[in-house]
Amino acid sequence: MCGIVGFTGAQSAAPILLEGLKKLEYRGYDSAGIAVMADRKIAVHKVTGRISNLCEKTGDGSKVPGTTGIGHTRWATHGAPTEENAHPHLSNDGKFAVVHNGIIENYMSLREELIRDGYHFESETDTEVIVHLIEMFYRGDVREALIKTTNRLRGSYALGVICSEEPGKIYAVREASPLILGIGLGENYFASDVTALVNHTRNVIYLEDGEFAELSEDAIRIFDCTGQVISRKATRILWDVQAAEKGGYEHFMLKEIMEQPGAVKATIAPRIKNGAIEFEEMGLSVAEIKNIRNIIITACGSAYYAGCAGKYAIERLSRIPVDVELASELRYSDPLIDEHTLLIVISQSGETADTIAAMKECKDRGAKALAIVNVVGSSVAKLADYTVYTWAGPEIAVATTKGYTTQVTVLYMLAVFLGDKLGLIGNRKTQMIHSLQSLPRQIQQAFDLNSSIPALAKKYHASKSLFFIGRNTDYAVALEGALKMKEISYLHAEAYAAGELKHGTIALIEEHQPVIALCCNPSIMEKTLSNIVEVKSRGAEVLALTFRNNHKILSVADDLLFVPDIDPLFSAVVEIVPLQLLAYYVAKENGCDIDKPKNLAKSVTVE
Ligand code: BG6
Repeated sequence: MCGIVGFTGAQSAAPILLEGLKKLEYRGYDSAGIAVMADRKIAVHKVTGRISNLCEKTGDGSKVPGTTGIGHTRWATHGAPTEENAHPHLSNDGKFAVVHNGIIENYMSLREELIRDGYHFESETDTEVIVHLIEMFYRGDVREALIKTTNRLRGSYALGVICSEEPGKIYAVREASPLILGIGLGENYFASDVTALVNHTRNVIYLEDGEFAELSEDAIRIFDCTGQVISRKATRILWDVQAAEKGGYEHFMLKEIMEQPGAVKATIAPRIKNGAIEFEEMGLSVAEIKNIRNIIITACGSAYYAGCAGKYAIERLSRIPVDVELASELRYSDPLIDEHTLLIVISQSGETADTIAAMKECKDRGAKALAIVNVVGSSVAKLADYTVYTWAGPEIAVATTKGYTTQVTVLYMLAVFLGDKLGLIGNRKTQMIHSLQSLPRQIQQAFDLNSSIPALAKKYHASKSLFFIGRNTDYAVALEGALKMKEISYLHAEAYAAGELKHGTIALIEEHQPVIALCCNPSIMEKTLSNIVEVKSRGAEVLALTFRNNHKILSVADDLLFVPDIDPLFSAVVEIVPLQLLAYYVAKENGCDIDKPKNLAKSVTVE
């Protein structure tokens, strides 16, 4: 996720662009840049790091003349955070500059075609193919060049474009990434979201997918992919800047929970090619896969629990033994590792000290390391032999949600990938890929099925402690569900393998003890049902998470959370969603600081 802005009017553009980018920094902050037009020339200024570096470089914009420009703050997905990879990107003839938020899924083939046609690339980004396509299609009409360019693109994009042949104009294009036009007096704007606009205007137009806009200081023209002009009435923004940064949600955590369908889709879609899972950026060959005798997954916190969930699918489809180890333990355990060990390192930030230390220890013993990270160019990514990025976008809330679900999604895709390359899944691959592609919709269904969660939170928010129980994947999800509850609501919560309760812990079950029972795997449902009966007979109150038509569970549980019909092999990504929401609303009931829980850090870079 990145942030883009555009301005055209009578004022100096650079200071306005920089101010807008500061408001969008929560969307991405590893590099930034502006492109401003003056005397029919485009000047580009880019930096790595925060917007403040760009302000310093341009004298808060005072050193940059011109009243028309575009700007970008980056969250790297393709290409590390360097000045070359920062946006805006210039066409070879210097006539066009482009900023982009989104992912171009077919950029590799377009890049090869453009290089064959003689275009020179400065960066590793997917975005740069866009500006060369515009140059290629330009015959004097920018709108026509934009329409022809977008006809070649597959993926998501919110684009900002300026052309030195069209002074005073900025162009905006929207497909599956947010883009809003701001209507000023004698000036006009565009931005990724309203936070960059509300200080200048509250009259906005939300562009729709497939729409283009041409903005000058006194006019805004919206048109579709046929060039047909569209009329669109303005909307008045009532949010304040704070609320706008959270997309209107009360907390970043709730915003990020609700972003999960999009984040999981962004992580899956670019990796499904010709009916198979392909990790272009990973570089793990079939020969190397056949050399793997065992897999160790290592991480901390929720990333560790993501590994616990992914283990089942990887073992089932690749038949390779998988151990999941806490990084803080693995590094001191004198691990049995050799050149046949694949170490999978999971980290949202890519900077967790324990995880990095464990990774170094295992690499020193001969393991190859495959990193699953959300931050491009992070320490874990740099140390890894192979890297697969989650494309969740920046995660601001300390308690991870979309970071976890996209990590599990990558592990599920890896399971199918390994099974396929080892020739072990045959024609089941098609069904498995269909199940993976259904995950974003099923997450949305999990939202829709559980409108009762705020009421359930009122019932359970004062509990002294909560038990989460489940078997197999349900147990792995119970671990993450319990952690979510602890870290944001401060209620004591523990997860137990459902079959383990009777070996001791059931002694703690007393009258009205809340037990959250996960029952999302039909093949072991009867077993978990017997565990529910066990705890209920000792006075527990059971909140069951299961399918809507699971009448046996429905008949014994006191309260219910639901999941849609999901493939048990890939269920963790959906099962966790009601538990994330339960923890969120319990924490809200308890008046906790949900985005910044006490004692916690988003990334623990010390041991
Ligand atoms: C904790 C975070 O500090 O570190 C958790 O609060 C996270 O959300 C854990 O799962 C590991 O962090 P990372 O960045 O390595 O996934």
